[in-house]
Formats: sequence, structure tokens, C-alpha cells
Amino acid sequence: MTVATDRAFHPLRVTDLDFWGRTFDEREEVFRTLRDEAPVSWHPPMEGGIMPSEQEGVWVVTRHEDVRAVSRDPETFCSGQGVQWEDVPDDLLSASHSFLAEDAPRHGALRALVSAAFTRKQVQLIEQQIKAQAQRIVDDLLDAGEGDFVELVSKRLPMWTVYEMMGLDPAVRDEAAHLADQMVGFNDLDVLDGREPGEVLNEALVGLLMMGLEFADHRRNHPAEDLMTNLVQAEVDGQRLTDDEIAAFFVLISVAGNDTTRNTISLGARALQDFPEQRALLRDDFDGVIGTATDELLRWASPVMTFRRTVTRDTELRGVPIAEGDWVAMMYTSANRDERVFDRPYELDLLRKPNPHVGFGGGGPHFCLGNFVAKFQIREIFSQLLTRAPNLDLGEPEHLVGNFVRGVKRMPCTV
Ligand code: HEM
Repeated sequence: MTVATDRAFHPLRVTDLDFWGRTFDEREEVFRTLRDEAPVSWHPPMEGGIMPSEQEGVWVVTRHEDVRAVSRDPETFCSGQGVQWEDVPDDLLSASHSFLAEDAPRHGALRALVSAAFTRKQVQLIEQQIKAQAQRIVDDLLDAGEGDFVELVSKRLPMWTVYEMMGLDPAVRDEAAHLADQMVGFNDLDVLDGREPGEVLNEALVGLLMMGLEFADHRRNHPAEDLMTNLVQAEVDGQRLTDDEIAAFFVLISVAGNDTTRNTISLGARALQDFPEQRALLRDDFDGVIGTATDELLRWASPVMTFRRTVTRDTELRGVPIAEGDWVAMMYTSANRDERVFDRPYELDLLRKPNPHVGFGGGGPHFCLGNFVAKFQIREIFSQLLTRAPNLDLGEPEHLVGNFVRGVKRMPCTV
């Protein structure tokens, strides 16, 4: 197929940094127009990257149906050349993304190594511990009385869970989570604090890699019952994983496990306050409602806003010709408000069923590996908050500027 090369940039720019500094509702207004008028639209390369882009532009996909189609066709839309909007040097990609940025068959082999730790059954084994942690976090919140909800509540349970599964020394967990935050915050002036984006990203990545390498080395000599021990002992095609591969997995899991669930908790808690009748519904019949509520809070929060793919062969999407080598960015936040799929998409409806949200991705081989453990954490923290902190009052969230994670940096609270 010959693909037309005449492409005009859409006038509604979603690759300006300014766009990602606007409020969620303002961005959603733009996405709604794109969903209606130009569901597959062409935009200049993302502004604010750490190196000049080699791409002429990027396709932006806003409808639910198309996000799912792209996700489920990895042969045409591959991940192996990166999944972010910005160009990054190849060594940085392999050092930071692990199998998130791999394609079959390597992706499947690496994912299989760690999948066993994330099954529903495996998560059930640590449920009691997650419950106990959620309880302790809310004990501390009640003792504190007031403060920053992100520090006091949202960040603690995801950090504890992911590093407990890995087996990381508690003394360095805070530092690891802080470095992971920097990895997704390099477009935010607050996070940059006068430094260049590349410098922040590099420092954070090197810090996490060093930590991952040391940790792997320690587990080789002191094996335990944890994910890191599995990794240092595992073999793919008869070969042990290299230190670099293990360290890259540590980086992936640090970002994927911390910066996602945390923001679902912050944004979810705020949503329950903004929709008090929904909050009452959940409080009055927690066990009956929490199943559908968790999915709705994930749809509502959409903490991972986008992932990108690279096109491996000339193709078409909704009649738009797309050339081999082009980049395609999937807008999960937009797909999760698509009125073609979700009735009253701007209302929080904790009983919504079915709820085919794409918070964990649109399906296909990269679908979130941590989905069971994330859902369980959400369940436990809201169970504690609703029963034990009924007067929780949250102030305005301060949002992170960036095109990847829908982050809440701070949110004042009193109990
Ligand atoms: C609310 C919380 C979470 C959200 C919204 C979320 C979202 C996502 C999304 C959108 C993807 C990409 C899916 C795709 O490309 O199809 C993904 C992949 C992944 N997630 Fe999550 N995630 C969450 C929690 C977690 C947790 C707690 C962990 C681990 C402890 C985790 C581990 C991973 C891993 C390892 C991948 C890569 C899978 C692959 O490439 O095969 N996630 N997640």
C-alpha cells in the first residue's frame, strides 16, 4: 500500500507542553472535539523532550474502539521502539523500560518470568499484609489529623506493596519511590527545580539502576522468598538474565507500581468527595459496591494517560492512512470518557456495569500485569478511609505537569 505523505497538523495541538499544564476538564474538552471530528489526528512531535525528535509528527488516537484496536494488534503497532511520546536514546530505553518496550517473542518470555508473582492467587497470599498496612496508614492519618493526603496516605500503600513483593530493604524504599517520581515528573517545573529535564531523568534513572544492581547482587548471595530472588535465579532460553535486564525490570516495576495506584487513590478519594451520594452508596454497602466501584474509580482517574506504539507496516486506522515507522499515541483518558461507550461519561457511577475502561490499557500482550494487586490495594484503602475517617475533607489537588502520568503532587486534608 502506498501511503499519502501530505499530512496537515491538526489545529488543536495536544503535543504542546502548555496543553499538558491545563486542567483535566480543559484537556478533555479538546479530546471530545477530536473524538467527534478527527478521531485519528496528526500533531507535531511532543514539546519538552530530552532530545530533538526524529519524527515529523505523531498520530493521536482518541476513541475507545481505536485505542483497543491499536493495543490488540501488536504486529502492526509495536512497543519495541519505545512507548513514550518523546524520543529517548536507545540505551536509555532499554535501561528503563524492560519488557514494556519489547515485542514478541522476547516480551512474552520476560513477562512470563514475573507473571507468577502477580496472579490473583499470588496476590491472595499477601492480602492480609496489604490489609494490615492499609489499617496502619489510616491509624497514622488519624493521629496526624491533617496534612498532605499524598504523603500521609496515597503514596504509602503502593510503595509498601510493590517493594514488599520485590523484597527491597525497607530502609531504601522511600528513596526508590522518590526516584521513580522523578522519572515521570521531568516536565514539571516544581520537580525540575531549576534543572534540565534530561538531567533529572538521567539522575533518577542512574539512581534506580544502581539500586537495582546492588539489590540483585545482594539477593544472589542472600536468596529469599521474593520477586528479586526469582529474577536472579531465572533463565530465559537457557540463559540467566543479565544484571542490566534485572535492573531495568526494577526501574519498570518502581514506576509502574508507585505512580499509578497512588494517583488512583488521590483522584478517587477526591471524586468520592465531589460525588457525596456515590460515596454514601459505597459506605452503606461496601462489599456489594466495591467491585464495580474500583473499576469506575480507575476509569475516572485514568492515572496512565497515554502510551505510544510504532507502526511496523503501512496501514489504515479509521480510514486514515498511516505509514510504516509512524508513531501512534493512544489517549486512555479520552477513551475512558468516550460517550460512544460510556453513558454519562462525566458522572462518577460506582455501579456502572459493564465498565470496559482502558485504565490498565486496551488489552493485548502489554495489559497491566499489576491489575489484581492494584485493585486490591484500592479496595483496602477505601475500606479503611470510609469506615474510619468519615469526616475526611480534601482540599484542591495540585497536579503534575506531564503527558504520561495523571499525577497529584499534593492535596491538603483534614480528618
Ligand atoms: C491503578 C494502578 C495501575 C494502572 C492504572 C496501571 C496501568 C498500566 C497500563 C496502562 C499499562 C500498559 C498497558 C498496555 O500497554 O496495554 C500497564 C503495564 C504494566 N503495569 Fe500497570 N498499572 C497500575 C498498577 C500497576 C502495579 C501495582 C504494578 C506492579 C506492581 C504494575 C505493573 C505493570 C507492568 C509490569 C506493566 C508492563 C506489562 C507489559 O508490558 O507486559 N502496574 N499498567
